[in-house]
Amino acid sequence: MKLITCGLPYANGKAHIGHLRTYIPADIYVKYLRMLGEDVIFVCGSDSHGTPIVVNAEQANMTPKQLVDIYHKHFQEIFEKLDINFDYYGRTDEEYHHQTTQEMVKKLIEKGYVYPKEIELAYCPKCERFLPDRYVEGTCPYCGEIARGDECDQGCGRHLEPGEILNAKCKICGSKAVYKKQKHYFFKLTEFKEFLEGYLDKLKGTENALNYARQWVKAELKDWCITRNLEWGVKFPNEDLVVYVWVDAPIGYISFTKKACEKLKKDWKSIWLKDGEIIHFIGLDIVYHHCIFWPAMLKGADYNLPKAVVASGMVKVEGKTFSKSRGYVVWVEEDYLKAGLNTDYLRYYIINYTSHQKDLNFSWEIFKDKVNNELIATLGNFMYRVLHFAWKNSKEIKMDVDEEVMEKIKEVKDKIVESLNDWEFKVASDAFMELASFGNLYFQNAKPWELIKKDKEKCEKVLSSCLQLVKALIIFGYPILPKTMVEMGKIVGIDVKNSKIDDALKVDETIALNKPKVPFEKVEDEKVEELEKKMMRRIRGEKMEEVVDIEEFTKLDLRIGKIVKAEKIKKSKKLLKLEVDIGNEVRQVVAGIAESYEPESLVGKLVPILVNLKPAKLMGVESQGMILAVDVDGKAILMHPERDVPVGSKIR
Ligand code: MSP
Ligand code: ZN
Repeated sequence: MKLITCGLPYANGKAHIGHLRTYIPADIYVKYLRMLGEDVIFVCGSDSHGTPIVVNAEQANMTPKQLVDIYHKHFQEIFEKLDINFDYYGRTDEEYHHQTTQEMVKKLIEKGYVYPKEIELAYCPKCERFLPDRYVEGTCPYCGEIARGDECDQGCGRHLEPGEILNAKCKICGSKAVYKKQKHYFFKLTEFKEFLEGYLDKLKGTENALNYARQWVKAELKDWCITRNLEWGVKFPNEDLVVYVWVDAPIGYISFTKKACEKLKKDWKSIWLKDGEIIHFIGLDIVYHHCIFWPAMLKGADYNLPKAVVASGMVKVEGKTFSKSRGYVVWVEEDYLKAGLNTDYLRYYIINYTSHQKDLNFSWEIFKDKVNNELIATLGNFMYRVLHFAWKNSKEIKMDVDEEVMEKIKEVKDKIVESLNDWEFKVASDAFMELASFGNLYFQNAKPWELIKKDKEKCEKVLSSCLQLVKALIIFGYPILPKTMVEMGKIVGIDVKNSKIDDALKVDETIALNKPKVPFEKVEDEKVEELEKKMMRRIRGEKMEEVVDIEEFTKLDLRIGKIVKAEKIKKSKKLLKLEVDIGNEVRQVVAGIAESYEPESLVGKLVPILVNLKPAKLMGVESQGMILAVDVDGKAILMHPERDVPVGSKIR
């Protein structure tokens, strides 16, 4: 049995094209394996823990769980729309995952691979708390670039241990951090040096990943701090700490396999405790975690080891380094799906643009060219030409296929299989496109439109050979272009979802045709210009991108309310509990303004309030609305009407 996994997306933001570089090739690979008759399980899930989520939730005035709920659902929807079909898509904040993680951590403790140690940690004197991982920013001690607490994300890419970062600053309030002693737990990674060297010699996958990992193991292995001061996460046994997110996230691969196996009636143990073939698809940014930490943990706790790590190069946008903050990003939903573009086009772009190991540049102009000149001019043209011609002349074709054509199909199949084994998915997709080019040439040279007048029999043979090519294209193309090929399959009577790759080599007695449809729609110049403009506006920092129409705006029930009561919320430095008169009733509202206002000073003030916001609990206190305020460097400044107005007045 084979297990294919994908790097778990952090559930703290929306899906972008960088994510797809992991998920689309993995899905294509899985679809091909299944067509080759392999028994495959395909899992992924939301990475719900870690400081990126806690920090974002805090900034959005939400609980981490509320934030994860939103993005977990978002990712599930995106995957469904793009035909990325996991057998199980879980989330790491669920009970079953916590259990699996704790079992593994306890095993590592039992076997003596975990020890406590006092360390100096970044601590914010103003927020009065320790600053794990992304709560702190500073300078990388290795390369001098700006870095996050646990990762030099803009420089050398190294994982940083707690306490390593220089010039640490609190991400929340900007204060300079001080260093304080605290007891944490370490995993004896250094004891695995020899094991890792041997393992990495045998590990399969893409050379980019393996080379980095081999260098790292030789150069600089350190014991690894595996606990953090957070509430949100998997509890570390007997301490008021949680395990580091990079301990529990990969264990998600195991807990999601268990869930998938429950569903599919398969045995998870045969994969993780015996010799199942485990293959991880990830991006180049998380090689360290997958090739060093993870195998050492698995080895230490007596689990089966991954057979291959397949790492993609990173995604660039319009030739520039991918960056959400600088606008070099393509949001899957906002930009791509909203534009009404065929999802198969994006699958094709990602798989076919370049070698899996290289950086992939996404540009709308190239996108248009690839769709119009390759998918449409070569593939779509051939398929439609053949189907249309055949349909016009006869609804049922007796099959008698040219040897040369069968050989070509066989050759392409072999190329596809071989390139999958080399993780060279572009080569597989090129071979597939080459078959379409071959078909075009074959059709062009044989001139069936002339033959039909002179030599009916010969014409039938040409058409049936071309139809066999169409059938092969539908089958070979399904993993890459599932939506299109399912539709094309219906025209020639193939249930391609359940086809095997060798069906392309089988010749039926006859093929009955349904009315053909054009497989692809052209991407128009104007569409691409519009999408480019949208991106340029975003890059220039203009907040134009999210246009709302007036109907959306009028859904907001905005009114002037009067604060009638205000008090502090225990344990919270930011939040106040307010009672706000909105005309017909008094609402309880939690507002993040405690750092700017004393509660007493607020009573009697008129403020704008969003009345129909979905109620939520903040620090256990229910909030039934939201006070609007001005944001000045993270501080809230209240707004008041320019003259006295009746309480409950509508804001338009
Ligand atoms: N949560 C971690 C992974 C834990 S795996 C046990 C994470 N999440 S992520 O949301 O940042 O990324 C999810 C996947 O998308 C990873 O495989 C990552 O490598 C990939 N990519 C995210 N951004 C990317 C690019 N800009 N380019 C290419 N792939 C990148 O990492
Ligand atoms: Zn660095």
